Amino acid sequence: MFERMLVGRIENRVTVGVLAFVGMMVLLGWAAINEGGRMQAFTKMEEARSIEQGAALFSINCSRCHGTDGRGLAGFGPGLNSPQFFGYDFFPEITKQINDLSAEKVGLNAEKSLSATTPERKTAIDARLVEIDTQIAELATQRNGQITAAVDNGYDPQRPIRLNNLGWVGTQEALIVTTLIHGRPTSINYWPNGAMPAWSQTAGGPLRMDQIQDLARYVQNWNKGDAWTLDDLFAVKQFAKEPVDGAPLMALIEQLQASGGVIPEPVGTDITAVIEQVASVTGDPVRGDQLYHNQVQSQLGQALACNGCHQQDVNGTGPMTKGTFFRVQNERVNDPLLKDYTPEHYLLESILMPGNYLVPGFQNAMLPNFGERITLQDLADLIAYIKTMDTP
Ligand code: HEC
Ligand code: HEC
Repeated sequence: MFERMLVGRIENRVTVGVLAFVGMMVLLGWAAINEGGRMQAFTKMEEARSIEQGAALFSINCSRCHGTDGRGLAGFGPGLNSPQFFGYDFFPEITKQINDLSAEKVGLNAEKSLSATTPERKTAIDARLVEIDTQIAELATQRNGQITAAVDNGYDPQRPIRLNNLGWVGTQEALIVTTLIHGRPTSINYWPNGAMPAWSQTAGGPLRMDQIQDLARYVQNWNKGDAWTLDDLFAVKQFAKEPVDGAPLMALIEQLQASGGVIPEPVGTDITAVIEQVASVTGDPVRGDQLYHNQVQSQLGQALACNGCHQQDVNGTGPMTKGTFFRVQNERVNDPLLKDYTPEHYLLESILMPGNYLVPGFQNAMLPNFGERITLQDLADLIAYIKTMDTP
């Protein structure tokens, strides 16, 4: 009897132990899952706060041109809260048919101009070309009849995707952010009431980078995806305008796109991190040359003017440009103060933290804030250029 009780107790204890263990695992698992949930909730909250801040910034800075509801203001700014800005096509079938017919036209015209094309074939081609034009006109009438109000407001249903019309290959977010940073100075040509201004402090505007991110989030929050309705289209008060001469805008878009459609961020001054990051970026010495000599701006819209202090063949405020890399390889890295420095490390630190090491005979006169004014790509390009200065 006593024995049985003991065994029973041991069994109980084991059971309790197992139960406790299982219970703990369940608790831990629940906590882990809930941690994920909390993270998500936190991210959501952050996002909501950012959109809210974006909304406030929009009403102060943007609504006078883009409308309080973002639907544009006639003559002042295009709708952003608009199916066109987010590239929604209400008539994809008709658009496709018209595109196919237009492509056929191009092919036929090319065939017609060949010397080998017989007169009979040319006559047949002409007949088909007339047919195509009639078909296109019919399709367009059928479509435009359903959206007369929008067409009257400048909507071109054959070109429903703003990003395509701009030739933009990056993301929508990158278009918004880069447009906000740099503005569209050349748009004054076709928006006589005022161009889209530059907003970032790095480009002389009033807004910080985080505020620009808030604004971009707010604008993107208008995107309805597949849920846009014709009423949304009719509510747009001003559609994007196509410039009469598109060249300046295209040049600007190309420049904005130099970042590959990636949102430009300052490279910062964390030297260890930058050494690692810059290793995976290919520098362009030609663009580096242009940056150095103030012929193009950094991806953050900054004029660098390195040549203001670094003259080509003589020392001035800063050491001369000629032979910089020769000196780095033959003098600097041998300086005991720069023990363990590679030439790249020395160069990028000279640019981002110029006060860390002073070239003998020079003052600490270099601007200390290049880390805030250039991107990783800008830095790689500058370094690639300086590396071409490799003879004494
Ligand atoms: C002085 C009027 C004006 C103000 C203020 C203004 N914009 Fe613009 N914005 C324009 C014009 C004009 C364009 C069209 C430029 C073009 O066609 O290239 C434009 C274009 C844009 C575009 C690109 C749209 C497209 O279809 O290409 C975005 C995004 C944008 N603005 C956002 C903003 C935000 C956000 C603000 C506030 C921080 C703002 N704008 C303030 C006039 C303005
Ligand atoms: C306001 C003047 C000024 C400007 C603008 C300036 N620098 Fe300098 N730079 C100096 C001075 C002074 C030194 C030497 C003192 C030191 O080492 O910081 C120097 C040193 C350097 C060195 C080290 C050269 C060597 O011989 O070891 C490099 C590399 C360099 N600068 C690159 C740049 C680049 C790239 C830019 C533009 C993004 C730039 N600097 C803009 C003043 C300037």
